[in-house]
Amino acid sequence: MDNKELFLMAQKAMENAYTPFSHFNVGAAILTENGEVYTGCNIENSSFGGTICAERTAAVKAISNGNRSFKKIAVVCHDGAVTPCGICRQFLYEFAPKLMVVTGDDKDNLKEYTLDQLLLDGFRLQDNKKIIGVD
Ligand code: THU
Repeated sequence: MDNKELFLMAQKAMENAYTPFSHFNVGAAILTENGEVYTGCNIENSSFGGTICAERTAAVKAISNGNRSFKKIAVVCHDGAVTPCGICRQFLYEFAPKLMVVTGDDKDNLKEYTLDQLLLDGFRLQDNKKIIGVD
């Protein structure tokens, strides 16, 4: 699965965004190590804190289906390129600090980051001890 294909799946998923409050539509598609893709959109709520971002929707779908090894995530918003918010960076870091993050305003104009570039010295716990940074 190349970046373009994953990006197009994120764009398609954005069509299902439920955004009556912000009107800011986001789509995401996450590729697992075993080649499966899970898509997500943002879903807002009248109780604003109940809102979930597209990236976490996609990751939660994957994890709840037994897939928590991730290679790459593509993200897009109605306005073009967008990078994951701070909460999503932390959420994804738990599972894949080296995750590739792909975004852009068009399938032919994509940028790539690694998650640990976007979340410098991210936080994780292992055996009740903090781990800072990745190898
Ligand atoms: N949002 C996402 O889905 N992903 C991002 O990376 C940025 C923010 C959503 C949350 C909310 O529904 C709307 O965009 C405005 O913050």
